Amino acid sequence: MSCRLPSTVIPRAYRLNYTTISLTAPFKFDGVIQIDVEVADAGINAAEGNPNSLTLHCLDLAVTKAKCAGQDATSLTMSIDAETVTITFPKKIPSGSHTLTVHFTGTLNDQMRGLYRSSYTNLKGEEKVMACTQFEATDARRAFPCWDEPSFKATFQLICTIPLIDGSNMVAISNTPVLETQEFIKDGERFKTYTFGETPKMSTYLAALVVGEFDVVSMYSEKTKIQTSVYTMPGKGKQGKFCLETASKALDFLEETYGIKYPLPKSDLLAIPDFASGAMENWGCVTYREAKILTDVGTSLTMKKGIARTVCHELAHQWFGNLTTMEWWNALFLNEGFARFMEFISVNHLFPEWNIWNEFVQSVYTLALGLDAMKTSHPIECTVNHPDEINSIFDAISYAKGASLLRMVSNYLGDDVFIGGIQAYLTKFSYDNAKSGDLWSALGEFSGKDVPGMMVPWTSQTGFPVIHISDDGSTSTERFLASGEKGEGSWPCPIVFQDGEKIILDDCNKSAVENKIKTLLTDSFFKINAGQYGFFRVNYSVKQWEKLADVMVPGKLSTIDRLGLISDCFALGKAGYIPVTVPLNLVKSFGDIAELDEYVIWQELSEQMRGLASLYKDEPFFPKFQKLMAGMFSKQAELLGWEKKEGENENLGSMRAAVFAALGAVDDAGTAQTAQKLFNEYAAGGDAVQADLRQIVYKLALKQDEEGVMRVLMDLYRRTDFPEEQRNLMLTLGQVQNAGLHAEVREWALWSGEVRIQDITYPLSTLGSSNQANSDSAWKYFQNNYDKLLSRFNNMWPAVAAMMSRGGSGGQQKVDEINAFFKVKPVGSAKRRVEQGCEALLLRFGRLERDRKVLEKYFL
Ligand code: BES
Ligand code: ZN
Repeated sequence: MSCRLPSTVIPRAYRLNYTTISLTAPFKFDGVIQIDVEVADAGINAAEGNPNSLTLHCLDLAVTKAKCAGQDATSLTMSIDAETVTITFPKKIPSGSHTLTVHFTGTLNDQMRGLYRSSYTNLKGEEKVMACTQFEATDARRAFPCWDEPSFKATFQLICTIPLIDGSNMVAISNTPVLETQEFIKDGERFKTYTFGETPKMSTYLAALVVGEFDVVSMYSEKTKIQTSVYTMPGKGKQGKFCLETASKALDFLEETYGIKYPLPKSDLLAIPDFASGAMENWGCVTYREAKILTDVGTSLTMKKGIARTVCHELAHQWFGNLTTMEWWNALFLNEGFARFMEFISVNHLFPEWNIWNEFVQSVYTLALGLDAMKTSHPIECTVNHPDEINSIFDAISYAKGASLLRMVSNYLGDDVFIGGIQAYLTKFSYDNAKSGDLWSALGEFSGKDVPGMMVPWTSQTGFPVIHISDDGSTSTERFLASGEKGEGSWPCPIVFQDGEKIILDDCNKSAVENKIKTLLTDSFFKINAGQYGFFRVNYSVKQWEKLADVMVPGKLSTIDRLGLISDCFALGKAGYIPVTVPLNLVKSFGDIAELDEYVIWQELSEQMRGLASLYKDEPFFPKFQKLMAGMFSKQAELLGWEKKEGENENLGSMRAAVFAALGAVDDAGTAQTAQKLFNEYAAGGDAVQADLRQIVYKLALKQDEEGVMRVLMDLYRRTDFPEEQRNLMLTLGQVQNAGLHAEVREWALWSGEVRIQDITYPLSTLGSSNQANSDSAWKYFQNNYDKLLSRFNNMWPAVAAMMSRGGSGGQQKVDEINAFFKVKPVGSAKRRVEQGCEALLLRFGRLERDRKVLEKYFL
C-alpha cells in the first residue's frame, strides 16, 4: 500500500504545542497543532475522494478535534494501513491559505520511535524516565499529525510544557534555542513551559524534542563561533569531552568545505540511553546512543574512531540532507552515502594520524562489494513506498555502496572539483529538495565532464562488474556474483593505473585500456585499479596472480593496493572465478612477514582466514588448514606481543586484536593460555584487560570453561554501565556452545530486562550464528515465539528475524523451511534481511560442496 499524499494541499508552517508530557505511567501526552496550509484543491487530497475532507499522516494518536477555515470537523477517520487521518468538514475547504488546527493525544511508547520514553538511573540510584523523539524515516506521524514526507518542507515552532518532578533539573531541548520559559504550579505540581524559536524550512523527519535531566559541556568553535553542547545523563558529562571537541572542530571544517554557513544558531549533541540506530541528524539537535558518543579511559581506539566518524557523519548531514534533502526516500543514498563519505573526509582532516581512508577500503568498500555481489541486493535507487520498504534501504547499499561510488566519482573528477560541484549543488538546492540526477548534473556542469552518463548506470543497476584480464592483455567484463554465475549489466569503469593515468573502460575505450595493459605485460607484475577507487573487482590470470604473490611483502605496493589485491583475490576464489587455492597461495608468504605499520592488511587477512576457518571447521583437512593459518600469523604475533609498548603506534592495539583473533580461531595453544591467564587475573580483581583485546580474551576464556566464565561475564555485565564493555560482554555471551547454556543466555538476553531492546542485536548476532545445533534451536525458538518477539522487538524486527534464521549449514532444506514459515507468518520489514540471510546460507553451503575436493588435494 502506498502511503503517499498528493500535493494539492501543502503545509507551510507548523506550530506545535504539547500541553502535557507525562513522565509517569501511563505516559500520556496531549498536543494541539496549528498547520498553515495552502490549498490548491482540497477535494483531491482526501483519501476516499470526499471533496469535503483533508488527509494527512497520523499514527498511534487519538485525534479528538479539528478545525479549518472556520469549520469544525464532523468526522475524523484513521486509516491504520495508510497511516493517515482523514478529517471531514461540513463544506469543502476553499482554495487559498488556511490554518488547520488539530487536537490529539498519545502515549510515550517504549519502541524508540515517534515520541518515546527512555529510562536511566540517576545519581541517587533511582530509575528515571525521560522523553525523546526519533522520526526518521516515517515516525513524525506518531508524534503529531503532519505531511510526513521529505519534500513537504515547512517551518516548525514548538511549545511544550514539562513536569518538574521533585525538584529535578528537567529540561526540554529542541532544534532551535529556547525563546522563553515560564514556570507555574497546577494542582500542587510544578510545570515549566518552553517556547522554542522557529526552525528554517525543513522536512518533518528532522524535528526533535528531548525532555530529561542532563549534564552538559559546551564550547564555541574557533571560526564559526557556534556553540556546541554535549548533553549526557547526570554524572557522565566528562565522558562527552572527546566528542565535544571533535564536533566543535568538525563544524569549522564542514562550514569551510561546504562553503555555506552553518544554518542554525547552535549545535547540540545528546546521549540517549535507549536509541534505535547509532545516531540521528535532527537539525541542530543530534541524538546518539551512548556508545556512539561517550568515551572513558577504557575506550578502545576502534570505538573512538567510530565516535569521531559518527559525529562527523551527523554534522555532515546538517547541510547535506538537512539543508538540501532528497525528494523521496528512493534517493536515500544521497543522504546516507554522502554522509558516510564525508565522515572519512572530515576524520582524515581532524585525525590524519589514523590513516582512516585505509579503513574505508577495508571496511566500507569491501562491505558494499560483499553485499552487492548477492542476487538479493538492490539498485541504489529503487522504488520504495511503504514504510517497511523505506526502512529496509537503510542498509549497506545506501551507505557503503553510496559512499564508495561518491569516492569513485570524486577521484575521477579530482577531489577539489568534486567539492566545488557539491558547493554549487547545495547552494542551488538550499532549503529545498533534489534528486540524484540534480547532483550528477551539478557535478557535470562544474567539471565539464559527463557525470550523469558515468553515474546513472551505477545507481540504476544492481551489482558491479568484475574485469577479467587475460595473459594477452585482453579484457572482458560481467556482473560479479558471489555464486560465480553469469550476471547481467554493464558499467562504465574508471580505471586508474599505477602511473596515475585514468581511462574509463566502456565500449568506446576498451581498446585504449587493453593497449595500455599490453605495455604492462612485460613488467614483473602489474596491478590496475590503483588506490581501489573503482567499485569493481579485477581478476588477473592465474599466472599474474602468482607474480602478485611476490609483491605482497611490505614496501612494493601501497597499503590500499595490497589490501585491494587480498580482498579481490579472496572474493574471486570464494565465488569460484578462480580456484580457492589461488588466494591461499597469494597470502602464504605472510608467514615470513612481520610488520608494524599497516594493521588494516592484517585485519583483512584475519577476517578472510577466519571466514574460511569457520566454513571448513568440520572437514578432515581442517588440521592442516589450521597449521597453515597459524603459520601465517605466528611471526607477527611474536613481534607484537600481548603487552602495549610505551610510545607505540595507537593502531597496534587493533593489530593485536586481529592477529590474536586469527590465532584463537585455529586453537593456537599459546594464545589460548595467555588469554586464560589475563582473564583469570582480571576476574580476581587485577588490571582490566586492554580495551582492544577484551573481546578476544573473553572469547578464548569462555571456550575453556563455558559455565564458569559465563557466570563471571554476566556478573561483569551487571556491574558496568559502560556501553562498549556491555557490548563486548553481550557479544561474547552469545558464543556459548553448550546447548543448555545457549538457551540460558538466549532467555537472559530476550526476557530478563537486563539487556536493553536497543542492544538486542549484540547477543543475537552471536547466538544466531552459533554451531549447527544451537542455530537450529534459535530458529525453532523464533518460530515458536514469533508473536511475543514481534511485539517486544517491534522496531528491531529486521535484525531479530534475520539473526535468528540465518545460522547453520542446512542448505536448501533450511531455506525451504524459512520460506515456508514466512508464508504463514508475515515477515514484514524483515523481508530483505531474511532473503539475504537465506542467500548467504546457500552460498556457504555451495562453496563447501564445490571446494571440498580441491582443498583435500591441496592439503594432501
Ligand atoms: N539518518 C541516520 C539515522 C537513521 C538510521 C534513521 C536508520 C532511521 C533509520 C543517521 O544519520 C545515521 O546514518 N546513523 C548511523 C550512525 C553511523 C554514522 C555510525 C546509524 O545509525 O547507523
Ligand atoms: Zn546518516
